[in-house]
Amino acid sequence: MKPIGHRIIRLEEVHSTNTLLLENEQYMDEHGLVALARHQTQGRGRMGRTWTSLSGRQLQFSVVLHPPLRAEELPAMSLVCGLAVARALEESNGLSPRLKWPNDVLIEGRKVCGILVESRPGTSGEQRLVVGIGINCRGPSADYPEDIRGGLTTLEEALTILGRGPVDEEEVLQAVLAELESLHERLVRGEMSLVLEEWKHRAVLKGQRVALDTPAGRREGQPLDITSEGYLLIELDGGERIRQISGEVLWLEPLH
Ligand code: BTN
Repeated sequence: MKPIGHRIIRLEEVHSTNTLLLENEQYMDEHGLVALARHQTQGRGRMGRTWTSLSGRQLQFSVVLHPPLRAEELPAMSLVCGLAVARALEESNGLSPRLKWPNDVLIEGRKVCGILVESRPGTSGEQRLVVGIGINCRGPSADYPEDIRGGLTTLEEALTILGRGPVDEEEVLQAVLAELESLHERLVRGEMSLVLEEWKHRAVLKGQRVALDTPAGRREGQPLDITSEGYLLIELDGGERIRQISGEVLWLEPLH
């Protein structure tokens, strides 16, 4: 298996780096292949949302991964990728990012990176994933559209507060790819449970309040833990415990 990042396709502009890889069978067969673009015209986010792409201000790339996991274990990969980014930002820039289930990366409670994981099994049933990573690097959050700027930050903004900088996107990219490689090697060794322990250590979970929409209407509760598949375990007000498999929960309190 070639290392993650052994080949990087660098583009000025593309519709979406995730879509580019997903639409090409040869790309999907190449574990470790990366597609990176300065600008995306149709960047996609989780749950059918649009990813706002600001030309040259973000690190936007997608990676083909063939993880050594069964289909039912794939949701946990989403968490593993968030962990890779958090580790990389710590290593490359000395930041202390936290993780918000399933895979947002936060600095001081504000989102600095979003991740979209999509899967297309191969013809022999092997798992093939595209992990799309968007990191807000340059400029102030005020440059982003009004409806999202309140909840996000950029690496430059976070580093300026600490009296540090500038941001080196290439260094961040290489750090993320190295962390993905290191975590992938741990999964090959069967160490998913240890990896998820580290995820929990860095996660915003306990002591927070969340709301979620259930068939019985909006319910509130408290996140307790994550399961070995990467699901979020929540205790609803009233004591019932449920597993949130995918989608979103609304975090009702500021995240720090
Ligand atoms: C989210 O927070 O909703 C996920 C955002 C994922 C954005 C990245 S940018 C690179 C890749 N290409 C896409 O179209 N989306 C992902």
